[in-house]
Amino acid sequence: MRKFIQRALPKLSKLDFPQVQALILDLAQENENLEVVLDSMTDGVLAADTENRVILCNKAAERLIPLTTGDVYDRLLWEVIEDLDISQFVQGCLVNQETIEDREFSLPGHGGNTRILSISVHPLVQAGKVQGNILHLQDISEKRWREARLRRAESLASLTTLTAGVAHEIKNPLGSIGIHIQLIQKMLAKKRSVTGDEISPLLEVMNEEVDRLNKIVVDFLFAVRPMDIRPYESCLNCLIRELLEFMQYELEQAKVKVVPDLEEKLPRIMIDEKFMKQAILNMVKNSMNAMPKGGTLVLSTRKKGDEVVFRIIDDGEGMSTEVMGKIFEPYFTTKDFGSGIGLTLVYKIIKEHGGDISVVSQEGRGTTFTLTFPIPQKVQKLLGEESKTEWEISDEI
Ligand SMILES: Nc1ncnc2c1ncn2[C@@H]1O[C@H](COP(=O)(O)OP(=O)(O)O)[C@@H](O)[C@H]1O
Ligand SMILES: [Mg+2]
Repeated sequence: MRKFIQRALPKLSKLDFPQVQALILDLAQENENLEVVLDSMTDGVLAADTENRVILCNKAAERLIPLTTGDVYDRLLWEVIEDLDISQFVQGCLVNQETIEDREFSLPGHGGNTRILSISVHPLVQAGKVQGNILHLQDISEKRWREARLRRAESLASLTTLTAGVAHEIKNPLGSIGIHIQLIQKMLAKKRSVTGDEISPLLEVMNEEVDRLNKIVVDFLFAVRPMDIRPYESCLNCLIRELLEFMQYELEQAKVKVVPDLEEKLPRIMIDEKFMKQAILNMVKNSMNAMPKGGTLVLSTRKKGDEVVFRIIDDGEGMSTEVMGKIFEPYFTTKDFGSGIGLTLVYKIIKEHGGDISVVSQEGRGTTFTLTFPIPQKVQKLLGEESKTEWEISDEI
């Protein structure tokens, strides 16, 4: 409560009419100021009391989500929202007293465009007590559009790096082939004719270089070709188990002890199993390469908020910060016979799944790759209907 009202209240009976009038005017002015501020915001705000009845609704909220006609005040918050998905989501949050950050919804916008609305639900706390809930609405269509543009620019930039990488890779074998042709020419110029014995080692080198060129081009095409990724709701744990079974013998031979640490009731996520298997396989193989004398490989999955986190942890050689900065670059390899394309593909596959990948590593200690994938809204909704606490997990993995 504002201080001047606090001071005035005990003396209310002693105030004369003009003083009461001044007080009411002050209050009205204050109220109006707050209203102007709220209505000038571009973010929508809807607040409800402990009975979930609307006590506040600013102009932006009216503009951002379709509300039912008529006065919204004193009605149940979810009943005034016309969009069924949002209404059900809000009802779920309020009834279960959940705090939700940035849940996204698509709504039809002007001119056939889709608007993306981000909704957060927080408790309305006053003097340490929950007085209701507040719904915070943000139109993030523009932000998403900018992000998409940035992604396009990024992929263009990575294409440039990729092409530069190919050009660089092609130069060496071409140079070598050129030198060997010159050698043959010199031989011919000297003796007019050469024997098969003389020429065959040179041709062999040229042949090997042509093979190398071929591999570079094939890898390149594989890396740049748009991936026909078709994700469907799948069980990541099952996929990991299948892959481990498939690699069991190889892992045993390499003296790599695998420790699966898979969360039992992991929500299903959108995966194209063929591509995801390839990505995980590439990473597991890298870990094996980093543990030439054997070691431990932990594969862990967890649900964290509205994401699934998958970690691949090895206790191998690790890498320097400098190497770490380059590992996703095409053709970057520290191995004698490496292609340097494995992690480029992993990165691409994870991104195409709407996921993210990061790495931490310490030389001599090991490496952890962390992959995160969004849990599809449909699955989240299903989870919401099941017991909530069951899914809560600690941040530690
Ligand atoms: N688990 C790991 N531990 C240490 N270094 C790694 C690991 N994974 C990848 N790297 C580094 O990243 C480089 C690039 O990996 P990748 O793209 O798969 O190509 P390649 O395996 O052919 O070298 C590797 O050469 C290696 O230096
Ligand atoms: Mg590799």
